[in-house]
Amino acid sequence: MAFIILSVLARALWRLEGKLFKKIYLRDAVLLALIGLTIIYGAYVAGLKAGLIYNTFPLMEGQWLPNEWNFYHPVWTNFINNPATVQWLHRLLALATVTYSTILWIKHGATYRLITIKIVIQVGLGISTLLLQVPLAVALLHQAWAMVVWMIALKTAWVKK
Ligand code: HEM
Repeated sequence: MAFIILSVLARALWRLEGKLFKKIYLRDAVLLALIGLTIIYGAYVAGLKAGLIYNTFPLMEGQWLPNEWNFYHPVWTNFINNPATVQWLHRLLALATVTYSTILWIKHGATYRLITIKIVIQVGLGISTLLLQVPLAVALLHQAWAMVVWMIALKTAWVKK
């Protein structure tokens, strides 16, 4: 809800400032979807306290995907209830996001430079949060920086240069 309210406010502000909204490109919508999903899974990680387990990166205690990923039944409930699966998905989505943004930077140039740098910083903050076993200050910085990432991505997608 916080991210939705922030987006509505930003859109209203940009409209008041008279900044033209350009047509949203599919590539921008895909980037927003990847960031949005990563953020939603960040909330699952925090909510399930899944940052307190598997405090290694990139492997999760020696495995790319922990054995217990399908521990619960029915299987789909693992994607919202199983801390190991949820943490794994948050990592995967984050890596997909940073890879996609980097490809956009390489293919489409400077427009995607700032957003890619912000996402790289966010990945660094996320890995630090995990390796340090979620110290409050670092976790809060990671949470707050997600808002910066989201706002820059929205601006990239919505506001005409
Ligand atoms: C595009 C990259 C990323 C985004 C947008 C992102 C976003 C978020 C958000 C919004 C939260 C907080 C949710 C909340 O408190 O409600 C969160 C939590 C978390 N993220 Fe990320 N994240 C990213 C990458 C990563 C990576 C690469 C890792 C580690 C490998 C990571 C580890 C964590 C952990 C451990 C938490 C839980 C912190 C806590 O319990 O307070 N994140 N993430």
